[in-house]
Amino acid sequence: MSADTGKQAAAEAAIKQLERGSILGVGTGSTVNVFIELLAREPGLVKAAVSSSEASTRLLRDAGIEVMDLNQAGPLDLYVDGADEANRHLSLIKGGGGALTREKVVAGASRSFICIADDTKLVGRLGEFPLPVEVIPMARSFVAREIVRRIGGQPTLREGVTTDNGNVILDVSGLAIDEPVKMERTLNDIPGVVTNGLFALRPADVLLLGGSDGVRTLRRDG
Ligand code: 5RP
Repeated sequence: MSADTGKQAAAEAAIKQLERGSILGVGTGSTVNVFIELLAREPGLVKAAVSSSEASTRLLRDAGIEVMDLNQAGPLDLYVDGADEANRHLSLIKGGGGALTREKVVAGASRSFICIADDTKLVGRLGEFPLPVEVIPMARSFVAREIVRRIGGQPTLREGVTTDNGNVILDVSGLAIDEPVKMERTLNDIPGVVTNGLFALRPADVLLLGGSDGVRTLRRDG
């Protein structure tokens, strides 16, 4: 099975869980792109979307879906997004596509979060995938030193990348993340950090994992 087949299967499963006519939070990345393609084939399935990135906004508009500002939309019922890694508690690493801050905002504003991924994203322990940290540009070197001092790992600047918010990203490799909530808080405490890619304080509620044998559903509460 290719990862693409898994992404397609997970995206199709998420489409089936949508309530017609709602305002939907939409994430970013190649799995979400498949999901948006499927939305485009079902006019009216969603009333409008709140997007987590400029890239997803373009795709949603191309698909004929109205994109609303979160400030106008208010609380959302559902957010659908991918992940770079997920554990069985549905804590995630996100931000491979650089959209982590807006993703975390929209996830936080949503009552429910469905994560869609191919089944290679499920891991026993988070941290094999380098953890993205969005940083204000002038704080870059200071934050990198503080990350090493506080949690270890090797922070590397993501070259040539400016986020939708005008910031830079440090990708932290070499982490074995046994306590994702604690690490998320520790990173958030460093001045200059805008967001980190751990979604543990607000994990997914449902994880749809596409694989060769169909879609496996994991729920946060068991
Ligand atoms: C973007 C993200 C994506 O959800 C994550 O990188 C997964 O992407 P893909 O679906 O392409 O594997 O967090 O910032």
